[in-house]
Amino acid sequence: MNDRKKTVKDYIRTIVDFPHEGIMFRDVTTLFADPRGFRICIDQLLHPYAGERIDKVAGLEARGFIIGGAIAHQLSVGFVPIRKKGKLPGKTLSQDYKLEYGEAIMEVHDDAIQPGEKVLLVDDLLATGGTAEAGIKLIERMGGDIVGCAFIVDLPELGGRDKLASLGMDVHALCEFEGA
Ligand code: PRP
Ligand code: MG
Repeated sequence: MNDRKKTVKDYIRTIVDFPHEGIMFRDVTTLFADPRGFRICIDQLLHPYAGERIDKVAGLEARGFIIGGAIAHQLSVGFVPIRKKGKLPGKTLSQDYKLEYGEAIMEVHDDAIQPGEKVLLVDDLLATGGTAEAGIKLIERMGGDIVGCAFIVDLPELGGRDKLASLGMDVHALCEFEGA
C-alpha cells in the first residue's frame, strides 16, 4: 500500500495468542516505530481539541506515556504520569481497578494536578475501561476537569466507551477492532 494512504489502523500489528491463547494483541509499537505513523497518530489524537484549553496531559502506564509525552510537548503543557502501584517516589493518591483476573492499583502524585486544571487523559487502548476509570477518578479527586479521554484503539465489544460515557466523559478513539 502507498504509505500516504495508510491510516493509523493500518500501522497496528496484531499478534495472535498473546499474552495468552485466544487474545488478539493489538501491537502499537509498529505504529510508533514508523515516522509517518507516529506523526498522524499524535496529530489525530489532538484533532478534536484544537482551540480548547488544556493545562495538563495525563498518561496511563505504559504506552499512554509515549503518546502523552508527545501530545504534551506539542501543546507546550505539562505531562502527568499515572503509574502502577509502587513506582512513584512522592506522596501519592491510589485507586484500585478491575483486571481480567483480580484487581490492580494505579497511583498519581497528589500534587500533580491543581483544582480547576483542564486535563486530557490518554492511553493506547480502551477495552473494559477499568484502567481509564481509575485514571479519571484520580484526576477528579485532585479537582482536575477532564476535557476528554483519547485512545488510539477502542475495542467496543468490551464496553469501555459506554462505561466512560456513563461517567460523563467525552471519548475519542482513532480506530476500532472487533473482538477482545
Ligand atoms: C492495557 C492497555 C490499557 C488497558 C486497557 O494495559 O494498554 O492501558 O490494558 O484495558 P481496560 O480498558 O480493560 O482497563 P495493560 O494493563 O496490559 O498494561 P500495560 O499498558 O502496562 O502493558
Ligand atoms: Mg496499558
